Amino acid sequence: MQYFKNKVVWITGASSGLGREAAKQLIPAGARLILSARRSAVLEEIKAEAPADAEIFILPLDLAQSENFAEAAARAEEHYGKIDVLINNAGISQRSYASETSLEVDRRIMEVNYFGTVALTKAVLPIMLKNGGGHFVTVTSLVGKFGFGVRSAYAASKHALHGFFESLHIELHARGIKVTLVCPGPVQTPISLHALDGSGNPSGQMDEMQAKGMAVERAVSVMLRAAAENRREVIIGNFKEKLGVVLKAWVPSLFFKLALKQNPRGQVKL
Ligand SMILES: NC(=O)c1ccc[n+]([C@@H]2O[C@H](COP(=O)([O-])OP(=O)(O)OC[C@H]3O[C@@H](n4cnc5c(N)ncnc54)[C@H](OP(=O)(O)O)[C@@H]3O)[C@@H](O)[C@H]2O)c1
Repeated sequence: MQYFKNKVVWITGASSGLGREAAKQLIPAGARLILSARRSAVLEEIKAEAPADAEIFILPLDLAQSENFAEAAARAEEHYGKIDVLINNAGISQRSYASETSLEVDRRIMEVNYFGTVALTKAVLPIMLKNGGGHFVTVTSLVGKFGFGVRSAYAASKHALHGFFESLHIELHARGIKVTLVCPGPVQTPISLHALDGSGNPSGQMDEMQAKGMAVERAVSVMLRAAAENRREVIIGNFKEKLGVVLKAWVPSLFFKLALKQNPRGQVKL
């Protein structure tokens, strides 16, 4: 974790799950943090619980309100003088069949997960370029690699992030911009409770898949190591979940045969 020492690391979605755990692991690694999410009171709690010498700047942000991002990025730069790493982690999931999901919900998920992430990246990019480079660590999902039940809009938003950040990597690699795409399978966080149903309300249900997923501490430590090693992409999951990515790429007919048998809220069965 030497990579993060003294680096200014901006984490979105820092109030819960993977983002909150990333903050917890990056403090002892010596990172200087910017924490963003909508729930500023939770971010303040995280700061209050951190050691007194931890450098933490709280910057509340709603990813659906991109008109505020230029000002937010300017405040971050003013505070630390630079931004080295942006962990694009905030996101919202979905638990509803496409046929039962209003287009408004499709648009809301795209707005937060895709446009919000892209807009914040574009607000931070000039600051990184001015300083000779930087690193975008963007959390997508296994469903950024293949489609899955009750997640059509969510999967679309995560696939879109791959298209954007792979292109950004190709365009700006020579100017010191690094990109790491992080694709977790189910991780034990409250994401399914916050996931939207077809009408846009939180599902309020903890899925079996989530409850039995990877421990958040492990998932975050794999993510941060992959970033430190400057990997372009990391799949975080068990053998069956990783196999899904390989089958989709190399034997799609078998992938779809198996995918049709899965319960989209349950554990992966082969
Ligand atoms: N857990 C999994 O199984 C899993 C698997 C694959 C990928 N992922 C991805 O991992 C990332 C983190 O998810 P998680 O599991 O940690 O979920 P989580 O516990 O529900 O956390 C989501 C975070 O995103 C923030 N957020 C949601 N909407 C926002 C908005 N409009 N503006 C700003 N922040 C917003 C939330 O903060 P506020 O509510 O305070 O705004 C929260 O901090 C997401 O991108 C998710 O898609 C998770």
